[in-house]
Amino acid sequence: MGLKHSYTVFAPIYDLFVSGVFDSLRTTSLKELQRLQHPAPTKGKVLLSGVGTGLDLPFLPPEHDYIGIDVTPAMLKKARARSEHLNIALQTGDAMQLPFEDNSFDAVVMHLILAVVPNPVLALQESQRVLKAGGYVLILDKFLRPGEAAPLRRLINPVIKRLATQTNVIFEDVLAHSAQLNVVDDVPVAANGWFRRIVLQKTNDANPAL
Ligand SMILES: C[S@@+](CC[C@H](N)C(=O)[O-])C[C@H]1O[C@@H](n2cnc3c(N)ncnc32)[C@H](O)[C@@H]1O
Repeated sequence: MGLKHSYTVFAPIYDLFVSGVFDSLRTTSLKELQRLQHPAPTKGKVLLSGVGTGLDLPFLPPEHDYIGIDVTPAMLKKARARSEHLNIALQTGDAMQLPFEDNSFDAVVMHLILAVVPNPVLALQESQRVLKAGGYVLILDKFLRPGEAAPLRRLINPVIKRLATQTNVIFEDVLAHSAQLNVVDDVPVAANGWFRRIVLQKTNDANPAL
């Protein structure tokens, strides 16, 4: 069973398990969108990659323009019910092959998606590609540390990665393939640091110090 099929099955019950648990972590992560207000007040264009049922939507500042993509129409249908207060377009799309032009977003939100997709390297590279120079990637997800043993998580990965999520993704290995993304913040937030809140910023080729 592919991820699209399993998330179609999960869609009616996803919120029961995930809503509430991550609310404070989502709030903290999405506060980073305030960075779009500096140095001058701006209305940003923000992509939610793997938007799911839209559990981030209540915490988004209303001044920006949003696009949310997901491979699972049943998850998007739930997100639509949460979207009325926002200027947001919700559409099917693959985080590993984004249907957007280069340098077109000010921020990409990747909450509980980078460790879900079959190829996290591609998904992060796609976020890097569609980001404008100086733009941000906001990540909230579970990652192993380089060299971390985590035998149970490695053991269950071959099965659970087909159903819901990978459990053995090493963030540093993924980031190594996105040379224009620099770590601005990296904070352990839950489950003994398995879950991390990470902020990345895209460098400007012309100004690598950005
Ligand atoms: C764990 S949920 C996270 C949803 C939401 N971001 C959240 O924080 O609650 C993972 C989501 O990724 C979606 N998904 C899986 N593979 C995907 C892909 N290749 N591209 C886009 N979305 C994908 C699933 O349909 C599901 O909605």
